[in-house]
Amino acid sequence: GNDEQEGFNLRDVPSGPIVLGFSQVGSESGWREANTASIKKAAERNRITLKFDNADGDQKKQIAAIQSYIAAKVNVIAFSPVVETGWDAVLRQARDAGIPVVLTDRLIETADESLYVSSIGAEFASEGNLAALYLENDYEDTSGHINVVELLGTRGSSPTKLRTEGFRETAARHGKLRVMDSETGNWTVAGGEAAMKKLLRRVKKIDAVFAQNDDMGLGAVKALQAAGKKPGTDVRIVTVDATRAGLTALAAGKLNYVVECSPEIGEQLMAVVVDLFFGGQVQKRVESQKAVFDSDSAADALPDRTY
Ligand code: AHR
Repeated sequence: GNDEQEGFNLRDVPSGPIVLGFSQVGSESGWREANTASIKKAAERNRITLKFDNADGDQKKQIAAIQSYIAAKVNVIAFSPVVETGWDAVLRQARDAGIPVVLTDRLIETADESLYVSSIGAEFASEGNLAALYLENDYEDTSGHINVVELLGTRGSSPTKLRTEGFRETAARHGKLRVMDSETGNWTVAGGEAAMKKLLRRVKKIDAVFAQNDDMGLGAVKALQAAGKKPGTDVRIVTVDATRAGLTALAAGKLNYVVECSPEIGEQLMAVVVDLFFGGQVQKRVESQKAVFDSDSAADALPDRTY
């Protein structure tokens, strides 16, 4: 509302460089490493003093990091929440201390949206929509059902929930893609490989895999090869992220489609941080860029891929 907007404008301008406390999820994936690099680089470029903490996938550590930033009286706090729920108490502490909070990459579930000033990131549900759409179109000339298994990210995180919802929503539209089973691979290559092995035991006929990130898709490639199957041909694979490793496998025909989710949101975050103190309009929602790659466009994109 109006008060909120005024609050932004009246915020005290820091006397020196803006101090930003950032709590990162962890370093579970190639995407995450690129995201960390983007945030560090953008902070430096914008002369913002960054306090950075890696929570190793542990919500308790994230809460402790946020509390330490409150105690240190930073100017602004940003974090990428490892799970969706359980943030209200610590975010109220930040608000009581007059410190604005920005969500990056992932979202939280809260009854009080005023606990954060802005969120920056991808539309995870639409990534799931696109993954299903491209996979379905790939089977245009095939009649009958396509049996899909799903490799899920960490349970309770917003990309896991929303990519699952998006994929199922689009799959249900024509009913051709059938999600037979799913297993969590916790965003990692090793987790994806283990999950795929379990699914190969449980599901008799697997036509395709929806891996919710590149790393798990690369794990599935390993598991399929170990089972004597040719990934990308015998079993088609669609993933999300579009890291260099993902696009390399795609260009080599081991993956079939990759939906981009850009980790390079550091500059967008720093723009919001600066606007908070220097009078710019702060948007409640800032979207990152996306595209869908196939084998040819992956090969074209690879030379310029920085992560
Ligand atoms: O929140 C974004 C997701 O987190 C990425 O898709 C995944 O690779 C990362 O670990």
